[in-house]
Amino acid sequence: MKKPEHYFTEEPTSEEIRHDVKARLRGRSLEFKTATGVFSYEKVDKGTQVLVKNMKVNGIVLDLGCGYGPVGIAAAPEAQFIVLRDINKRACKYAKNNIKLNGIRNAKVSQGNLYDNLGTFETILCNPPTHAGLEAVFKIISDAPKHLTAGGNLQLVARPAKGGKRMESKMRDVFGNVKTLGREAGYAVYMSVKK
Ligand SMILES: C[S@@+](CC[C@H](N)C(=O)[O-])C[C@H]1O[C@@H](n2cnc3c(N)ncnc32)[C@H](O)[C@@H]1O
Repeated sequence: MKKPEHYFTEEPTSEEIRHDVKARLRGRSLEFKTATGVFSYEKVDKGTQVLVKNMKVNGIVLDLGCGYGPVGIAAAPEAQFIVLRDINKRACKYAKNNIKLNGIRNAKVSQGNLYDNLGTFETILCNPPTHAGLEAVFKIISDAPKHLTAGGNLQLVARPAKGGKRMESKMRDVFGNVKTLGREAGYAVYMSVKK
């Protein structure tokens, strides 16, 4: 039997069934085209909503693991420029389309693995691929300082009861600081600043 495909597959081969998602994020009504094979294609994920509500957006921003783009597209009006990065080619195709659909002009999509070939940012926003395992999320945290300007920050949403506390500790170990920007519905948004 064929194994079910993960949403973080680089080249999804599963059938592409299209969906439309509408959401009010950071005071704006946004529309997204999504499809099967992409994370949370039927509605904006609760963790995503909690991140978007609590995030602090500044300067040049990276939306790491952008999926079809809800975080980056919600952040774009407050950012100087935003790069949306995902490994999943189908997710990148939808993110690109959704940037246009929502009239965003200061954003681009970059398909690739984690931070490969990316420069530095003032803000990194991430709803991490927890299904890829804690080690994958730890790598996002430990490699973040190399891709942050001095004073820049990493913001990550997680479930304290489901590995989130370990992600918070890892952020404290790597950066020497971590604070909680908000908590809701079992999710917390953590921020660490590169000193
Ligand atoms: C939890 S989802 C969040 C998606 C989107 N930001 C949202 O909130 O709806 C995590 C995303 O990380 C992507 N991802 C997983 N592994 C990755 C990697 N190695 N490099 C880049 N993106 C990755 C997945 O494809 C997925 O879209």
